[in-house]
Amino acid sequence: MNAMFQARLAAAAAAVEAALDSELAFEPKPGEPARPRRLLEAMRYATLGGGKRLRAFLVIETARALGRSDAGPVRAAAAIECLHAYSLVHDDLPAMDDDDLRRGRPTAHKAFDEATAILAGDALQTAAFEILADPATDSNAETRAALCASLARAAGAAGMVGGQALDLAAETAETPLSTGAIALLQAMKTGALLRFSVEAGARLGGASAAAAEALSTYGAVIGAAFQIADDLLDAEGDTATLGKRAGKDAGRHKGTLVAALGIDGARRKLADLVAEAKAAVDAARLGEAGDALKATAEFVAARKS
Ligand code: IPE
Ligand code: IPE
Ligand code: MG
Ligand code: MG
Ligand code: MG
Repeated sequence: MNAMFQARLAAAAAAVEAALDSELAFEPKPGEPARPRRLLEAMRYATLGGGKRLRAFLVIETARALGRSDAGPVRAAAAIECLHAYSLVHDDLPAMDDDDLRRGRPTAHKAFDEATAILAGDALQTAAFEILADPATDSNAETRAALCASLARAAGAAGMVGGQALDLAAETAETPLSTGAIALLQAMKTGALLRFSVEAGARLGGASAAAAEALSTYGAVIGAAFQIADDLLDAEGDTATLGKRAGKDAGRHKGTLVAALGIDGARRKLADLVAEAKAAVDAARLGEAGDALKATAEFVAARKS
């Protein structure tokens, strides 16, 4: 894998983890009455215990490609990682995917208890918006409001949560979903947050309208590719490498392109999307600064965990 990409991903991960450690401190912040210890332990467990930090990287790297590399994008990256961690904690609950392993460790509801996991997810979600709304993220109030509004849309009923509802409905659907219905489900449950990550970086980096549009396409395509790769890994990967249980989707009748097109068909679709993502980076006209974003498209498809 591209050494420049690996180094940048590691640097972004380190920066966002430092920001998360500080935002999710046990000590109350000025003006807060208390931070219940066990709740914070679960929030920290869900956010600080590994993960690829891909969404964080997309925020930081997109802003960097546009010439911005101060603390603002790192804060926005911390916000999206909080939102993402909440989505995983709730996704793993018994009422949803009922998983016991995540990032190579027991899922939050196993390590703590269901009520604590639900509350930790709830509080991680609100933490994301609090971080974005803070003037330290960007001095321009309109920019902060736009980030909050677009994260709300990406995370809500027409985004991640809506996609999760469609994902669960697919498990008991009478007939298998069409490829179009699967693409919609995945664009919502996974694509929306990845696209938000790129769009947030573009906004913070002050992208031109044309670059912002091309980058938004890149984010959507990366999102589609990411979930196909996740579904291929469920079908072909092993639990130890993945850090989460492999081989669960087929038995649960999940709506995936692996189910609809087979392994080879899903692989071909994934390769098409990688090419499309790279073309979108070219269309954004970032020059060499866009190379890491192109490498990201390859990473998304080639990753083993
Ligand atoms: C897993 O996301 C959930 C999906 C959207 C498929 P990641 O594979 O990015 O999870 P972490 O953050 O690296 O653990
Ligand atoms: C989850 O998709 C997407 C989310 C919104 C969390 P999956 O259910 O396939 O994710 P994993 O495989 O459990 O990480
Ligand atoms: Mg799920
Ligand atoms: Mg799951
Ligand atoms: Mg999966």
